[in-house]
Amino acid sequence: MVGILREEEINQLLTELIDTYGYDFTGYSMPMLQRRINQFYNLQQIGNFPALRYLLKNDPQYFRLFISKIMVPVTEMFRDPPFFAALRTTILPALSNFPLIRIWHAGCSTGEEVYSMAILLKELHLLHKSILYATDINPEALETASKGIFPQKPFQHYADNYLKAGGELLLQNYYGPYLGQAKFRDELKKRIVFSTHNLAADASFNQFQLIICRNVLIYFNQELQNRVFTLFDSSLESKGYLALGSKETLRFSHLNQHYQKANLKEKIWQKL
Ligand SMILES: C[S@@+](CC[C@H](N)C(=O)[O-])C[C@H]1O[C@@H](n2cnc3c(N)ncnc32)[C@H](O)[C@@H]1O
Repeated sequence: MVGILREEEINQLLTELIDTYGYDFTGYSMPMLQRRINQFYNLQQIGNFPALRYLLKNDPQYFRLFISKIMVPVTEMFRDPPFFAALRTTILPALSNFPLIRIWHAGCSTGEEVYSMAILLKELHLLHKSILYATDINPEALETASKGIFPQKPFQHYADNYLKAGGELLLQNYYGPYLGQAKFRDELKKRIVFSTHNLAADASFNQFQLIICRNVLIYFNQELQNRVFTLFDSSLESKGYLALGSKETLRFSHLNQHYQKANLKEKIWQKL
């Protein structure tokens, strides 16, 4: 039997998660959250709301599972190839004179985006002097990301994306077979630091020349988006770049006046 949690029940749950774990989901798109929490509730066959509350409150492992199921992890390599082409031809070359290039992938999910970036940097001969911070709220997704092992099936599509983004070789140069899956070469991973970080609550942890946060803010309301923009602003060096997803914009933010578009077509801004 399918059960639907009432809106008051979901609100109560969200308040308790703030008190218990300090995770605040109240700035997320409510229809998305309601849909995903209800999916979780039914798949787990918990049966009643008090049982769900009890488990979430008292079992941190269960809370970890909950996070991994209510977040949307959809990602792919070289997603939106023209975006990666813009990084390759204009943004990364502009950073090439820095002795150390610091890049933050916020909301990296299972890591396909950050491995794509490592490949770009490798082909531009910049990987050895770059450091990539890949963060996400979802520890399960990060675990997958840090292993660098992925199912083979989507790799034909990834190879097409790579070439459309201006790839110089063949994508398969960067991974090898591993127990029926694809494993990225260690040299790509060596320059990546994986860590949990919650954009809704955690502070800045470094200064970057490039911050990439794509397809994350679409799930946040304007208030939470503004919090995140302030966090990015305080984490970005002067003249640094901020890249968002195709449906996201800095335009309606209070910080818009301190940035200029760095690319006409892509969602990339430069701090003034
Ligand atoms: C749709 S994926 C986007 C992945 C990748 N950036 C891309 O564009 O392919 C959204 C990611 O944002 C993460 N996320 C959601 N809320 C977050 C938060 N408060 N802090 C950090 N990451 C968050 C989710 O766990 C998920 O992995």
